[in-house]
Amino acid sequence: MSTNTPPAGRPEALYRLAERVAIEAAEFVRVSRPPGRVEVAATKSSPTDAVTEIDRATEDLIRAAIAAERPDDGFVGEEGEDLIGTSGVDWVVDPIDGTVNFVYGIGAYGVSIAARVDGAVVAGCVVNVATGETYGAVLGGGAWKTQAPAGGPTTPLTAPTPPSVALALVATGFSYRPEIRAAQAAAMTQLLPQVRDIRRIGSAALDLCGLAEGRCDAYVEQGLKPWDLAAGSLVAAEAGIVLEGLDGPPDERLVMAAHPLICREYFALVRACGF
Ligand code: IPD
Repeated sequence: MSTNTPPAGRPEALYRLAERVAIEAAEFVRVSRPPGRVEVAATKSSPTDAVTEIDRATEDLIRAAIAAERPDDGFVGEEGEDLIGTSGVDWVVDPIDGTVNFVYGIGAYGVSIAARVDGAVVAGCVVNVATGETYGAVLGGGAWKTQAPAGGPTTPLTAPTPPSVALALVATGFSYRPEIRAAQAAAMTQLLPQVRDIRRIGSAALDLCGLAEGRCDAYVEQGLKPWDLAAGSLVAAEAGIVLEGLDGPPDERLVMAAHPLICREYFALVRACGF
């Protein structure tokens, strides 16, 4: 699927809007970023949880672009007030997932836009701002990646067969809150000796898209917000990845994800390690 071959149907139409706006927003982030370190405008859950003026301006751009086409939809964004809609559709948006990377100039941050219908994510798009790669998925319609520039070649995503759990490369992330981070670090000291290695890239949305394309084998994180998770988790799931939480679907308490061939063993290990 690509911008050149628009599919029909409601989730697909929502996807087309998500993709168009995400690409526009990613270009805005790219051209707005000054050289060097970006100034932090404010902090949120802890002094390490940063927001920049560009995060805010990007969310404003996304809100306006979606509202212009779908004024009755709801909106849940990382940087602004929730908007309750009347259409049954709402948009779950992280204008810059990987803000700390953005601040430091580390090229792993993305725009993440998902559409939910009656609470279920049906379409998701993540654009890696630095590389221009676009990851997309529609519920039941598969996942794909479009090479930069926008409109470039599109390839379907099927998560590759992983090695054993013992040889799995595990992507993860840590909370901004010190007390939660300490518990996560303790669990990680249990997990790390039992897998190939860990990667803390700094963008959950890109981690989940990376899982979909085989840049890691498994994932675990606690404390993700809906905007970190919504689009990337659909891309991963549609690429064949199994996602699970503490007692059902993944949520803020726990997100575990892995290929079906290793997921049962990996999820049991993650829980045994104290996550
Ligand atoms: C963060 C990133 C990070 C994850 C944090 C998220 P933000 O999102 O996704 O990888 O570990 O939990 O909060 O704050 O950069 O939008």
